[in-house]
Amino acid sequence: MIKHSIIAACVVMASLPCYANDLFKTADIAAGKKLVETNCISCHAASFGGDGSEIYTRELRKIKTPSGLIVQVRNCNTMLDLKWFEEDEVNAAAYLNQQYYHFK
Ligand code: HEC
Repeated sequence: MIKHSIIAACVVMASLPCYANDLFKTADIAAGKKLVETNCISCHAASFGGDGSEIYTRELRKIKTPSGLIVQVRNCNTMLDLKWFEEDEVNAAAYLNQQYYHFK
């Protein structure tokens, strides 16, 4: 599974030049959107108001790289004990990237 080893290497060694175009190449964005809408919005909305998306677009947002985005999605997934597969994490991250982060 070449795709998975690229993701693993990028997530572990944040210094690698990892591009969203590679990481998210085969991601299913529609599936990611559904996962995020179902599991992730209510809490962000409670803290930030509206649809919660300001958490991704605020000036001091934490995520600066595509691999950082996958790491954060993984952390939230683990914290919530959603038991997503790595594929789900990548799909959700790809959706957030397309919609809000726009990493290349
Ligand atoms: C129980 C509340 C809660 C839920 C549910 C939740 N999050 Fe979060 N999330 C947070 C909080 C709080 C932060 C801000 C952390 C900070 O600023 O240090 C955050 C931050 C983030 C960020 C980083 C935003 C930035 O600064 O760029 C991402 C990405 C994210 N969450 C993704 C997700 C995903 C994907 C899910 C669904 C699996 C999810 N979150 C579910 C509470 C939650």
